[in-house]
Amino acid sequence: MEEIFYYRNNRLHCDEIDLQEFSRSKRTPFYLYSQKRIEQNCQTVIEAGKDLDFLPCYALKANYNPAILKLIQNLGFGADVVSGGELFFALRAGFPPKKIVFAGVGKTASEIELAIRTGIHSLNIESAEEFYLTREIAGKLKIETPVAFRINPDIGAPTHDYISTGKHLNKFGIPLNDALRLYQQAFEDKWLKPVGIHVHIGSQITDPKPFLETAEYLKDIIDQLRKKGFEISALDLGGGIGIDYYNDFKKPQREYPLKTILPSYLRAFKNLGVKLVVELGRSIVGDAGLLITRVLYRKQTPVKKFLIVDAAMNNLLRPSLYHAYHSVVPLILNDNAKDRFDVVGPVCESGDFLATDREMPLTERGDLLAVGGAGAYGQVLASNYNLRPSIPEYLVSGKEVRTIFKGQTAEELAQKYDW
Ligand code: LLP
Repeated sequence: MEEIFYYRNNRLHCDEIDLQEFSRSKRTPFYLYSQKRIEQNCQTVIEAGKDLDFLPCYALKANYNPAILKLIQNLGFGADVVSGGELFFALRAGFPPKKIVFAGVGKTASEIELAIRTGIHSLNIESAEEFYLTREIAGKLKIETPVAFRINPDIGAPTHDYISTGKHLNKFGIPLNDALRLYQQAFEDKWLKPVGIHVHIGSQITDPKPFLETAEYLKDIIDQLRKKGFEISALDLGGGIGIDYYNDFKKPQREYPLKTILPSYLRAFKNLGVKLVVELGRSIVGDAGLLITRVLYRKQTPVKKFLIVDAAMNNLLRPSLYHAYHSVVPLILNDNAKDRFDVVGPVCESGDFLATDREMPLTERGDLLAVGGAGAYGQVLASNYNLRPSIPEYLVSGKEVRTIFKGQTAEELAQKYDW
């Protein structure tokens, strides 16, 4: 596969863009995404599902910049939404209602009503009480409402505890027996139309085993449902496929879990006569994004060396929240000696870091660094903490760079308060 991020003459490029050259006149920090990489990832998904009854959806939560949504929508994807806000953005980006799925443990009555009126593919129910409310609203509106039941399979996944979702100690999904009981009640209801089941075991999973375990589990449930005489037309397999956060762009990318996991996961359900839905977020946009940041200061204590950069936890929360690893590389490679640094931001928290104890070549004030794997759960998790305005986003395609979010100013933050 064509490399999108690569060094040429020791300078990091995205597609045809020399990033040092591009960044020189730009306000830092900023996010930069590759259109080509997003398209490649989408094509990999489409390829994995060819010859199958398949609805690939994009999980908006990973990155809902409108330009990115429109790009993915144009490639034929559906959308996975988790709030009224995401449903609004999905519709605005042109995703057809029949290609939208809505999951989430805490849908409000007005979100449920909006989803029913919109005529989406399925509301994925996550508790008995949510089921009863949905039944009541569908009955009041007299609109046929497709529902799926998110099952909690009690399957663990090797990922951070905060993003593992498929165990009984997690708040997500419904235990199997309760779900089967609700499936029956939906079946008997005049307005609800049970279309299938849904499962999502967690995120940033790079090992195929938990997916294949889930496949066996789901096939068994389909069997049980069919034996009871229940129609099941769709199987929503969730998302969760991880990316390679260790890519330093010096060698061709080593790992591409989307390609090694998705085809075999989907093929496990071949000939079952159900439509397969996936809800992929990170694996579509994660490795298509960089966070570009500038070295402000170098600082040494008796026990540590710090690189203080202008991006912080308010821009990219993942390292602080999950101790997540992101590659951090210079835009211009040099032969300087290496040393170990904590790469930290200006925010007034000791938990504000982008990397800890990281071996890196020596840099100077003003040098630019790229943080890899920043396309998913980056800008969407950003905040204005310490009154730091949100930062610009750019989309690269060939030699073109488009500003897809211009960033905020302090003045605009004041205006949020009509001030
Ligand atoms: N479907 C459901 C029901 C989900 O809860 C999620 C993610 C997805 C699909 C998409 O999962 P993906 O393909 O992106 O793994 N902020 C965390 C990730 C939280 C994921 C939440 N749910 C992080 O930065 O790692």
